[in-house]
Amino acid sequence: MHQTVESLSTWLHRIERWTVLTGAGVSADSGIPTYRDRTGRWLRVDPIQHKEFVESEAKRKRYWARSMVGWVGVDGARPNATHYALAEMERAGKIDLLITQNVDRLHQKAGAQRVVDLHGRLDQVICLNCGQQESRQSFQTRLLQANPFVTDYQHIARPDGDADVPDTYVEKTTIPQCKHCGDVVMPDVVFFGGTVPMSRVETCTASLADAGGLLVVGSSLQVYSGFRFCRMAEKLRIPIVIVNEGETRADAMATLKVEQSAMNRLVAAVDQIIPSQESKSA
Ligand code: APR
Repeated sequence: MHQTVESLSTWLHRIERWTVLTGAGVSADSGIPTYRDRTGRWLRVDPIQHKEFVESEAKRKRYWARSMVGWVGVDGARPNATHYALAEMERAGKIDLLITQNVDRLHQKAGAQRVVDLHGRLDQVICLNCGQQESRQSFQTRLLQANPFVTDYQHIARPDGDADVPDTYVEKTTIPQCKHCGDVVMPDVVFFGGTVPMSRVETCTASLADAGGLLVVGSSLQVYSGFRFCRMAEKLRIPIVIVNEGETRADAMATLKVEQSAMNRLVAAVDQIIPSQESKSA
């Protein structure tokens, strides 16, 4: 057990600058459950597809009815020791770029600066027609004003801000429109079947080309948009270190895989290479 921490800290120390890729496992200790289990099995209801959201008013009603309640759990979540440890690594100059597949913004709340939200951010909405952005806080206020029947919040956090609600909620839901042009608003996230903007991918690729290694934390890597960075790292012949409880799609490609008590070990290893972590008490 000790040896694993040793080898993780050895690797974290040895590589001068990392590109880091994180997933839902990082936020599990903040009370936001993951999408998949240890074997990579999907744990949730069928996720909404981009095309469905764009084309179907009924699907949008379902999405916002659930999200109106589910957002509260994500909004209230706070960073945990892993988010703080990674922010500390960045401050110590060990991270070139942190790519996160999470839409919860907890890395930024922990103080990380160089972050790419690969799959977007839940704290913002965007108009499908004019591209006008609005904070989710402001949109949530408009949602609740338009739907005063929503009084029974269950603050159960889900990774994508989803929640189970009665069918009657869905039927009654009124969706506010874009404040600017009156068109359809969507959360500023990449749904299944949607596309990660090319400029975002390019920022990540450029970092990886310069980095000494790829550190993956808390992701099953089941989704190609994250897995592709392992492919790239393999082509670049740079080490891939994976810290994740459970199987990942890149296990066979990893130079080091830390599975047992993964997050505790990462925090311990960061402690070893960067002794003064004042931010942890913040
Ligand atoms: N510590 C470490 N790892 C954990 C913990 C924990 N406390 N709890 C769960 N895990 C592991 C799970 O076993 C799983 O292997 O974290 C991993 C999370 O994987 P996923 O749920 O698949 O999350 P992620 O890889 O981020 O998903 C990628 O899929 O649905 C889409 O767009 C969504 O961004 C998401 C993408």
